[in-house]
Amino acid sequence: MSGESFENLSYEDRTFTPSQSFIDNANTKSDIYDEANKDRLAFWEKQANRLSWNKKWDQVVDWQLPFAKWFVGGKLNASFNCLDRHVIEGRGERVAFHFEGEPGDTQTITYKQLLSDVCKATNALIELGVKQGDRIAIYMPMIPQAAIAMLACARLGAMHSVVFGGFSADALLSRIQDADASLVITADGGYRKSAAFALKGAVDEALKGSTNVKNVLVVKRTGQEVAWGSKDVWWHEIVDRQSDKHEPEFFDSENGLFILYTSGTTAKPKGIYHTTGGYLTQAAFTHHAVFDLKPETDVYWCTADVGWITGHSYVVYGPLINGATQVMYEGTPDTPTKGRVFQLIEKYKVSILYTAPTLIRTWMKWGDEYPNGSNLSSLRLLGSVGEPINPEAWMWYREVIGKNNCPIVDTWWQTETGAIMISPLPGVTATKPGSAMKALPGIGAEVVDDEGNAVGNGRGGYLVLTQPWPSMMRGIWKEPVRYKDTYWSRFNNLYFAGDGAKLDKDGAIWLLGRVDDVMNVSGHRISTTEVESALVSHEAVAEAAVVGAKDEMTGQGIVAFVILRGGIEAAKGDTLVKQLRDHVAKEIGAIAKPRQIMVVAELPKTRSGKIMRRLLKDVAENRAVGDSTTLADPNVMKLISEGLQSGKSED
Ligand code: WT7
Repeated sequence: MSGESFENLSYEDRTFTPSQSFIDNANTKSDIYDEANKDRLAFWEKQANRLSWNKKWDQVVDWQLPFAKWFVGGKLNASFNCLDRHVIEGRGERVAFHFEGEPGDTQTITYKQLLSDVCKATNALIELGVKQGDRIAIYMPMIPQAAIAMLACARLGAMHSVVFGGFSADALLSRIQDADASLVITADGGYRKSAAFALKGAVDEALKGSTNVKNVLVVKRTGQEVAWGSKDVWWHEIVDRQSDKHEPEFFDSENGLFILYTSGTTAKPKGIYHTTGGYLTQAAFTHHAVFDLKPETDVYWCTADVGWITGHSYVVYGPLINGATQVMYEGTPDTPTKGRVFQLIEKYKVSILYTAPTLIRTWMKWGDEYPNGSNLSSLRLLGSVGEPINPEAWMWYREVIGKNNCPIVDTWWQTETGAIMISPLPGVTATKPGSAMKALPGIGAEVVDDEGNAVGNGRGGYLVLTQPWPSMMRGIWKEPVRYKDTYWSRFNNLYFAGDGAKLDKDGAIWLLGRVDDVMNVSGHRISTTEVESALVSHEAVAEAAVVGAKDEMTGQGIVAFVILRGGIEAAKGDTLVKQLRDHVAKEIGAIAKPRQIMVVAELPKTRSGKIMRRLLKDVAENRAVGDSTTLADPNVMKLISEGLQSGKSED
């Protein structure tokens, strides 16, 4: 078994069934799985009918492994589906966005208003020469114009490439060059942690490199000083004077919708390429089914930035197609207080909250007084995405945020998959804390061993997808060979996601982290996730990251970095460390007992909240710390290294 698959160490027997009233009112019922199993393609055709098509497709899918086309021959416009349709059908007065800037400025934007804003922006893009198929880089803070810019590109059949506003000028330049963008849409800056940060300056810096960018369209957000050149155009000067009418053209279902670069912590970023009909179908279906959206009454808040795929599928396309009313927030969750998110939930009566484990664990660390300081009774559904959610964090989310009253949907997917693939259905599934449970209807997922054979219940292995799905990436931009090699060559006819996973005794799926992070201790392949969850299940620990460090005896030894919960002191170092090591041994077995545990104040994370274990491994193996330019807080590694010098704890 060892060396072949993954150890299955943790055990969980708590399950939570949805309340009867949730079940009775849910958007999807349990028969949806049978329906999809009976005829998968008919199922996806039915979901495609959530969209408005100008011409119906001739063929559901054209699958030439690994290249797919969905709804072949169909014609539609993404922006029309998000906007015009609601106005035409009488929903123009519904609020699309309650926007809240970090300084506290607000805007209420109805669907009618959003349509007219997008039409004006579209007409401005036309004036700047944008055409179908062009690539437009968007480098913006989390403000309404970010979504407006995306929808204006889509309206013209041009592809947006959103580059997260926290990325550097270098990162922006390489993405502009790779996609050969002709226009950059940006802002002077944005607000974050009570200060204005600059974006336009980074664009100027990036454009010193060689590009084909003809214009830079600049939203005035902060009013800070900016340098101005011949390519630069103020948004308010060109957009505001445009007509608020624009007749959309309808494009082929496979017309490019966007490119989004994966953050690429190791290799050159991959330009993940998505098209229109299939992507929108699955974004809309999953948003409806997984979040149980009732568009007339729900207030939905996905905390992701539009710079990530979550912001594309679950802030812009999925929710707008479904006519959702959303909260959009510009800033960080601790500004001006650690209760900001909870205050906004109370203020806007948010009923559906979708966020990431990193934020949930941060809230655990800050302490319960912040959520307890606001009225959270409007919440009825909670979602999680981005990393495995530890059972303890799941329980905290359920109890402290959801007041034991909200189903939790732990949703597994990737930039590459475009939309949610594995998740409970909130009115159907009895959930287990920490498990993404099972593949959605119409999706094929399995856990396999090294040879690609299904592992069976109670065993761990590699997560694969067994069938093409509508929102799958259509490739890596300009790199078809890399696309094949990365995703389709590890196993025959299967999509390799790069994640470890296990099936529990009931067949529920548990994600175990990236296979690159798996540790090999005396020949046992142990997932970082299971050890981290065991640590987080101790009352003193809010967050943990573990890595395998070279070990002469065992091949690799487990080194853990832990953050303590609010109010808990790093009590007498060694006693706590000993307790934690024993706790891991008791929870999941002596083989997983960390060789070394460090109490730290922060962990190195990317700006999307993923822990950069590679850097911790450098520390654990006493190497100089490698490239840390994608870190959210560049000082963290220095603090951790210094802490290590003073607090070694081994036995
Ligand atoms: C990777 C994809 C999908 C939007 C945000 C991340 C990890 C994502 C889960 C989850 C366990 C998860 C995987 C995946 N991941 N969701 N619910 N449970 N792991 O998109 O940046 O493309 O990252 O995030 O490792 O492969 P991304």
